[in-house]
Amino acid sequence: MSPAVAAKSRERLRIAVQKSGRLSDVSQDLLARCGLKFRQSRDKLFCFGESLPIDLLLVRDDDIPGLIAQGVCDLGIVGRNVLREQTLAAIARSEIEPARELVALGFGRCRLSIALPLDAAYAEAAQLEGLRIATTYPALLGNWLREQRVDASVVVLSGSVEIAPRLGTADAICDLVSSGATLVANQLREVATVIESEAVLAGAFTAPADVRGELAEQLLRRIEGVTRVRESKLVMLHAPRAALAAITQLLPDGQSATILPIEGSNDQVSLQAVCHGAITWQHLEDMKRAGARQLLVLPVEKMLA
Ligand code: PRP
Ligand code: ZN
Repeated sequence: MSPAVAAKSRERLRIAVQKSGRLSDVSQDLLARCGLKFRQSRDKLFCFGESLPIDLLLVRDDDIPGLIAQGVCDLGIVGRNVLREQTLAAIARSEIEPARELVALGFGRCRLSIALPLDAAYAEAAQLEGLRIATTYPALLGNWLREQRVDASVVVLSGSVEIAPRLGTADAICDLVSSGATLVANQLREVATVIESEAVLAGAFTAPADVRGELAEQLLRRIEGVTRVRESKLVMLHAPRAALAAITQLLPDGQSATILPIEGSNDQVSLQAVCHGAITWQHLEDMKRAGARQLLVLPVEKMLA
């Protein structure tokens, strides 16, 4: 990207998102839910915003903090793991931090973890002393090892970290774990978490003072609205009146429940509540044990209080 291209569209906001990978579809889906529509260019790298003066740049996720630092993009959707790694690396080189986390987006959840071969014993971090740990996240791993006061050697790789123990080039790895399938396939076992990660909206330390600052604010408000609705669920159930207190206690953030009588029953009532946060099978099973029946969890599409 030449500086000329970056400077040309000062009155349009530019967001960097991952071109292909774990976060790419979900990131574009989030922007679509925020009402942004794009026309994709033929090279499929630049998408012109048709509904608002907000354009998209499709790039490698590792390039996103740097693009924000250079002012090529104003915002980016990137994993916290990538942002933190590059931030720590910049601090270590006495450079300014490339970008900051503006808001966590609640998708792309994963963790950066230490994993060992299945047959290696592990009870505490001290047992990593003297080991060679392969990673693509040397700054985060180095930081964690210092915090744990463990002296291990960090083997920096550019990919395929999970096969390093089998190749004999490392004794352990430090890599992203999401479903855990990669670890299982490589006969590795997760033993410690370095950081919890998810997709975040990143931006420059100082928001642009021109019209892009207002656009960024507008987008941030829409993202917050979309995230809130996505995490909201309508819970409906039947329960004996006597069990209501116990059941509403089990609802995540569901204090303002509506209680309705059920025709032909003195004792049973129907409960409806909008809950914020995940409702798991465990929640439902706990409520059932507390006396709830006919439990239903429905997604909320739009909300206006
Ligand atoms: C990560 C990581 C593992 C895999 C773990 O790579 O390096 O290979 O995902 O996921 P799992 O636990 O669901 O098997 P990713 O595809 O995110 O690519 P990148 O880190 O190279 O950008
Ligand atoms: Zn990557």
